[in-house]
Amino acid sequence: VSNHEVLPLLGQVAEAVSGAIGWARPALVGADPVVRRSEHADFQANAALALARRARARPADLAADLAAALDGGPIEAVEVSGPGFLNIRVPDASIWGQVAARLRSTRLGVGSPDDGRRTVVDYSAPNIAKEMHVGHLRTTIIGDSLARVLGFLGADVIRQNHLGDWGTQFGMLIQYLDEHPAAAWHSDELSAGISAVSALDELYKTARAEFDADPAFADRSRRRVVDLQSGDPATLAMWKEIVAESEKAFRVIYDRLGVLLRPEDSVGESFYNPLLADTVDELVRAGLAAGSEGALVIFSEEVAGPDGKPVPLMVRKRDGGYGYDTTDLATIRYRVHDLKAARLLYVTDSRQALHFRMVFAAARRMGWLTDGLEAEHVPFGTVLGKDGRPFRTRAGGTVRLMDLLDEAVARARAVVAEKNPELPAADLDQIAELAGIGAVKYADLATSRLKDYVFDPDRMVSLNGNTGVYLQYAHARIRSILRKAGDPEAAVDPGVAPEPAERALALELDGYGATLAEVGATLEPHRLCGYLYELARDFTAFYESCRVLDAAEPVRGNRLALCQLTARTLGHGLSLLGITAPERM
Ligand code: ARG
Repeated sequence: VSNHEVLPLLGQVAEAVSGAIGWARPALVGADPVVRRSEHADFQANAALALARRARARPADLAADLAAALDGGPIEAVEVSGPGFLNIRVPDASIWGQVAARLRSTRLGVGSPDDGRRTVVDYSAPNIAKEMHVGHLRTTIIGDSLARVLGFLGADVIRQNHLGDWGTQFGMLIQYLDEHPAAAWHSDELSAGISAVSALDELYKTARAEFDADPAFADRSRRRVVDLQSGDPATLAMWKEIVAESEKAFRVIYDRLGVLLRPEDSVGESFYNPLLADTVDELVRAGLAAGSEGALVIFSEEVAGPDGKPVPLMVRKRDGGYGYDTTDLATIRYRVHDLKAARLLYVTDSRQALHFRMVFAAARRMGWLTDGLEAEHVPFGTVLGKDGRPFRTRAGGTVRLMDLLDEAVARARAVVAEKNPELPAADLDQIAELAGIGAVKYADLATSRLKDYVFDPDRMVSLNGNTGVYLQYAHARIRSILRKAGDPEAAVDPGVAPEPAERALALELDGYGATLAEVGATLEPHRLCGYLYELARDFTAFYESCRVLDAAEPVRGNRLALCQLTARTLGHGLSLLGITAPERM
């Protein structure tokens, strides 16, 4: 075993075609060889069509010249087809060779293109004393998968949970709790199933109503805000308690989801409070922030609002307070200067797109973000109910996330139990949990993230189609075949001529690293879902047309190797989505 990178066959072919381009037409050296997987051959190169105009040649003639220059190397046969496609076949021995090499590698032959790149992933970020909503579920799931993929690609990932733990609303809440000592909100005073955040969320609503109705309470609340900001010990102690109880409740959800977020990843808005004054000073000295009706704002040079007018970032409100915008300015400065980030990702819903564009633009003008530094908002769409409207409970409130997860697990349990009635109850519980949570995550990750998606527990636990449960089953089925074979050491004989279904499966396996690199570059986990789904289908096609356990050697060994590599790739790919693939189901 090793952790060596295996150069994919596609990459080898692309290099060979590049070489042929430079040889046949020196003026076109360096042009994209446009090599893809193909249904008509192993690979197809469309370079002749893409480059004909530049070469002042007929595509078919250019293709013929390229074919003539493509002799040997990783390519066994090349054929010009249609108007100028190059259909390329690689040797059988290379097909098996890469399967064997990937199996020998602890990394399945995948390289680390992000080697050492320090990448801050800002995700989850629920608000203290507020129930987490489905939007927070999405950022938690998407952000966690990106942290896993980028980490595997070699990035030095720093997770940041930018909790909404600061702001004037805490003055009101603390004042209310102080005046109503009998109000129950500590986790140990609440009945089972009620979390401190939902209790606090309710109490906050009551406090808000009192604030609006009673000017005296409003005054006392405002004084509390001042107390909190000036660090009054009793007020601060109360605030800390509220934060701790809320984090405990978030932790329950994180544990159940099995996400990477640790308590030390929580660096909430309050953390930046002591840095705000300095940040604002710098902005003023640089001439970026200017007074406007008593407030201090930054007018963006390139970003305009929906009405075409420049939109301001609020640096300091008229009352002297700082808000979300200021905090994010201080945050980006901190992440660049103190965390030494090279890439900054912010996973929040797409309604915050304008906010981040303005923060990034300001940070560029300030020189905090320099050319080599990448800052990206990773937006996502809304979670919808089956009625196509934003997801709500019947009562109209936001859905409690735990209820939602419970529901998915219950449906998964029914599906798993029906499929395998012999499972002992304890195993069933465990598998149902993995399948239900996996189903929720997969459904969220499998659609392109900008699209809204419908939360449909029945569909997400379906055994058919592009679901997490389908992939978990595919993995478990292959594991069962391998157990029956006694889990042998892989022994691949490169001299065997592969069947078409073996060839297709092996070539799909060859594309794993390229898929991950694409996810890392585009930050789109649905590409990994699509890949794994295709892989599972290729495996099914292979298993339907090729006998494995009762085949004769050396064919049997090669087929078991395909089984092993498929199972490992499925299991690994699912793990990068944050989904566990059980050994049996
Ligand atoms: N707490 C915010 C919300 O619930 C998300 C914070 C995202 N991160 C950031 N750096 N602004 O919408």
